[in-house]
Amino acid sequence: MEIKLENAISIRNWEFSDLTSLINNANNENISAFMRDAFPYPYTQTEGLKWLYEVANNENSTHFAICENDKAIGGIGIIIQDDVYRLTAEIGYWLGYSYWGKKIMTQAVNEFSQYCFNTYNIIRLEAKVYEPNIASQKVLQKCNYVQEGILKNNVIKNGKILNSLLFARLK
Ligand SMILES: CC(C)(COP(=O)(O)OP(=O)(O)OC[C@H]1O[C@@H](n2cnc3c(N)ncnc32)[C@H](O)[C@@H]1OP(=O)(O)O)[C@@H](O)C(=O)NCCC(=O)NCCS
Repeated sequence: MEIKLENAISIRNWEFSDLTSLINNANNENISAFMRDAFPYPYTQTEGLKWLYEVANNENSTHFAICENDKAIGGIGIIIQDDVYRLTAEIGYWLGYSYWGKKIMTQAVNEFSQYCFNTYNIIRLEAKVYEPNIASQKVLQKCNYVQEGILKNNVIKNGKILNSLLFARLK
């Protein structure tokens, strides 16, 4: 797949040749602070390879690279839930630190959410954002996600107990 956005930004499948660019962009404490522990700091070559073996050249993967001039600078994807939650998917995303604040993710989340509703058998996209993560909350709000609640003390990140905010966008 490929979604073309403004300013030479695109969303496409991960490729093994993204390894160096993936590590250079992902290896940042400011990013991992707001991600699951599966996205660690430092983000080493081992992590990068593990990720690419899961998602690169895999046509069933629901995880994609965000690129500038075809160079991977971030990631976006969904995890489709199962059992009675199978029409819901959780969305996740991150961007290399030097690209923050240019509205790249607002554009990416908006277009990618629409793509997911058009492509997968889902009717609900949701995100659980750690409460201190104001930038991500703003992105979701601008992409028509609505805050539905607060999940109190449901996260431990870097030794701190945090609330998460539950956001959702319906098809
Ligand atoms: C969240 C993230 C993807 C945002 O990407 P981005 O391309 O910089 O986002 P945008 O530029 O589209 O929009 C960010 C918004 O947050 C605002 N913002 C950024 N930092 C902020 C802060 N500390 N306090 C208040 N607002 C902030 C920006 O001003 C902008 O809002 P505006 O359009 O009203 O001015 C990026 O910061 C990131 O990768 N963070 C780490 C990983 C992460 O949090 N992933 C999501 C987990 S739920």
